[in-house]
Amino acid sequence: MRFVGNRVVLIGAGDVGVAYAYALVNQGIADELCIIDIDEKKLEGNVMDLSHGVVWAGKRTKVRKGTYADCEDAAMVVICAGAAQKPGETRLQLVDKNVKIMHAIVDEVMANGFDGLFLVATNPVDILTYAVWKFSGLDHSRVIGSGTVLDTARFRYMLGELYDVSPKSIHAYIIGEHGDTELPVLSSATIAGVSMRKMLEKDPELEPRLEKIFEDTRDAAYRIIDAKGSTSYGIGMGLARITRAILNNQDVALPVSAYLEGQYGEEDIYIGTPAIIDRSGIHRVVELEISDREMSRFKHSAQTLRAIKDEIFPAGE
Ligand SMILES: NC(=O)c1ccc[n+]([C@@H]2O[C@H](COP(=O)([O-])OP(=O)(O)OC[C@H]3O[C@@H](n4cnc5c(N)ncnc54)[C@H](O)[C@@H]3O)[C@@H](O)[C@H]2O)c1
Repeated sequence: MRFVGNRVVLIGAGDVGVAYAYALVNQGIADELCIIDIDEKKLEGNVMDLSHGVVWAGKRTKVRKGTYADCEDAAMVVICAGAAQKPGETRLQLVDKNVKIMHAIVDEVMANGFDGLFLVATNPVDILTYAVWKFSGLDHSRVIGSGTVLDTARFRYMLGELYDVSPKSIHAYIIGEHGDTELPVLSSATIAGVSMRKMLEKDPELEPRLEKIFEDTRDAAYRIIDAKGSTSYGIGMGLARITRAILNNQDVALPVSAYLEGQYGEEDIYIGTPAIIDRSGIHRVVELEISDREMSRFKHSAQTLRAIKDEIFPAGE
C-alpha cells in the first residue's frame, strides 16, 4: 500500500472550489487532492486541467476525481459545495438550501470513517460550520469555518493601499459574522507596528475614512458578484492559507469561524474571530481586547447568528 501523505478531499468544485484547488496545487500544500462534485463532466475537465499544471508547481500534488471512500484516509475535507449567493441575496437567505446539502455531505463523509478536520466555506459559513459540527459529531476544534479570513484580507489590502504598505505589515481583523453584521477591530490594529488607536487620537479625520474602507470591505462581495457572478480567487487563497496552517502544523493566528465557549461572553455559536490553527485544528480561540463600542457591535453580530442557528437547531436538540 502506498503512503497517502496529506490528502485533502474537496467537495464542491464550482468557482470557489476550483480557485481553492488551483491555489493548493500552485503552492504545493497537499500531497493529494481528491475532488468530488455532482457535476461529473465539469469535474473531469477541471481535474485534467489542474493536473496539467502540476509540472510547474512546487511539488507533485496528485489531483484526481474522488469518491466519499477517499475520506477515510484524508487529513482534511474542505466543503465548497452548495448554492451560491445570487445578486441581491444575503448570505443568510441561503441557509435552508445549504443546511440540507451539508447534512447529506457530512453523513456520507462520516459513514466512510473520516477522522480528520473539516474546513467549511459554503455560505452562510458561520451557520453551516455549526451544522457540519453538529452533523459530524466531531470535537468542535476539528471543524473550522473560513469565517472572516476573506473579509480580513480585503480590509488589510485596502489599508495597505491607503498607507502604501504591504498588507502583510498590517495587523487588523474583521470579526463577527461573515456578512452584513461583521465589524472591524481598530482598537488593537497596527500599521507597520504603529497603533491605529493612537493614529485615530491624533487625527480626527481618519475615522470616517476608515469607516468607508470598512464599508467597502463589507460590501465587496456584492460588488464582485454583481460584476462577475461570484467571488472566488480571494476566498480560494484564504482557504489555501488555512489549509497550509493545518497541514504544516503552523500554530498561526488566522481569522476563522470558531466555536465559542465563553469567549467574548458568548457560547454555542460559530463566529469569526482569530484563532490559533495547527495540525489538530483550532488549538485556541484568541479573545481580542476590544473597545466597548466594538463589543456591542460584536454582540449584535452574535445575536444575529444565534437567532438563525436557534431556528435550525433549537436549544437542547
Ligand atoms: N466563505 C466565504 O468567504 C465565501 C466566499 C465566496 C463564496 N462562498 C460560498 O461558497 C459556496 C460555493 O460558491 P461557488 O461560487 O463556488 O458556487 P458554484 O455554484 O460555482 O459551485 C457550487 C458547486 O457545488 C456543487 N454541488 C452542489 N451540491 C453538491 C453536492 N451535494 N455534492 C457535491 N457537489 C455539490 C455544484 O455542482 C457546483 O459545482 C457558496 O455557498 C458561496 O456563497 C463563500
